Amino acid sequence: MGIYAEVRPSDVAAAELAGRKAVIISGGPNSVYEPGSPTVDKNLFSAGIPVLGICYGQQLMAHLMDGYVRKGDIGEYGHATIDVREHGPLLEGLGAREQVWMSHRDQVEGLPEGFEVLASTSTCPVAAIGHAGKRLYGLQFHPEVVHTPGGGRVLANFLFSICGCTKDWDPRGRVALLEERIREVVGERNVFFFVSGGVDSSVAYRLCVRALGRERVHGAYVDTGLMREGETEFVRQALDVEVVDARAGFLDALEGVVEPEKKRHIIGEQFVAVQERVLNSGHYLDGEWILGQGTIYPDTIESGGTARADVIKTHHNRVAGIQKLIDGGRIIEPLTSFYKDEVRELGRELGLPADLLDRHPFPGPGLAIRLLCAAETEFIEKLEEGWLVPVHSVGVQGDSRSYRPVLALTSLNLEKATELINRERRANRVVGLVDSHAPLDTQQVWEAHLTGPRLDRLRHADAIVRRLSHESGFDREVWQFPVVVIPCGTVDRPDSVVLRPIHSVDGMTAQVVLMAEDLLRRIAAELLALDGICSVFYDLTHKPPATIEWE
Ligand code: XMP
Repeated sequence: MGIYAEVRPSDVAAAELAGRKAVIISGGPNSVYEPGSPTVDKNLFSAGIPVLGICYGQQLMAHLMDGYVRKGDIGEYGHATIDVREHGPLLEGLGAREQVWMSHRDQVEGLPEGFEVLASTSTCPVAAIGHAGKRLYGLQFHPEVVHTPGGGRVLANFLFSICGCTKDWDPRGRVALLEERIREVVGERNVFFFVSGGVDSSVAYRLCVRALGRERVHGAYVDTGLMREGETEFVRQALDVEVVDARAGFLDALEGVVEPEKKRHIIGEQFVAVQERVLNSGHYLDGEWILGQGTIYPDTIESGGTARADVIKTHHNRVAGIQKLIDGGRIIEPLTSFYKDEVRELGRELGLPADLLDRHPFPGPGLAIRLLCAAETEFIEKLEEGWLVPVHSVGVQGDSRSYRPVLALTSLNLEKATELINRERRANRVVGLVDSHAPLDTQQVWEAHLTGPRLDRLRHADAIVRRLSHESGFDREVWQFPVVVIPCGTVDRPDSVVLRPIHSVDGMTAQVVLMAEDLLRRIAAELLALDGICSVFYDLTHKPPATIEWE
């Protein structure tokens, strides 16, 4: 919102925040009444600084101020409508009814002393609270996502009217300054980058090229063979980098593997080996070179970053050559004071294509975790509620991981699916059948591995879905849209496709997003025209209990 901001771990002492104009406590997946859940210093609420708690932040504020939070009878995920009871300074400018985005089960039931309810929904009586005198506010809904159209207004009300903040931060004017910094840090040396095709490394690379000139910056992109269709060519053209063809090595190493963690491990090892090879072959470890990285602000905070920040970090750390450069201080990270949306702004200013800047997150291990394998051929089992398909996929329950079969329904009933997954212990996911070449009872799960032809099949399916969802604008309604291939079908058509469009804020939790019937029909028709594809399913499971990726 154009205001300088820092992210601090939740346990920061209130005294350390003295003098700040505003504090926002974020949301999170925990329950305030469970031992070990993140908490904040209670003194924060009497320090005279205005505080806004969002989702878990509101619950935490109520809980710590002697209010009461309880588990809701039903969760509230997705679009909801609030009735505004009291506009006050926080909800000023909103209508009497407003669409908002909800993602919670717990809710505030008893208000702390002096607070009043500002808004309610039909399932959540306490959707916004405030204590105007103390300038303490809470929102159960998420003002920070696009699905809350009035959210920007609420945040502006809090920051500008209530807290008196002023616009003092504009990432756009900073390109020239950043260039100067880069020249200072790099001096006479050159910069080497591994670029992934993701937003951060691309913007950091482009900034360095602009600051130092093309001859002094070398970018390498590793083609693992686990990329989406056209991705390697796109990156080569958009960024002008060296493409390292490592496809055969990855495919060979993955031969015969079924178990998801093993897949991940092998991919990590391969990556390290290729990176070492590239670093040594180009003499990039010599004193004349330093390493460039696209680390952004949230990556530098322990509690921030994406759900998999820890995994990504360990992979980088394992490359001995990279570690040597970091240890020697031979590293430049121009983006460490920026958030993701600011990095996109910088990218636009640098002239990077919108297709690169506005892309959905894509996991490091690539299509490998969206191509499901099976150790043996097995039959599908008919249950009372649907079909138990013995393709195992990963899920999360509490803090632990599950690895279970999938329950297939013959309709796309999200409500029924959500209710079923809460009581069906044999599965951790529910899918609905969109369309098929053969009835489910004539299909089975086949022994299957990560092979070139199956990867191609997934690549084609993914490209079809990406094209149609882009043309229809559906890709802008979702946060991510994995396309998964599972080894379920008939002899002639041994694989099926699962569509997994979701909305999320940070990947930690996710909600299923349904799509318009005509778009779904078009996607299914094109997918079923592919060789080897038997059925099209739609994943109807939120995270938790499922994960976003199937692995
Ligand atoms: P899950 O499947 O755990 O995914 O619900 C949460 C988010 O993390 C992404 N993801 C990864 N991103 N490297 C990444 O850069 C990885 O190894 C990785 N694994 C999962 C996933 O796409 C989703 O957005």
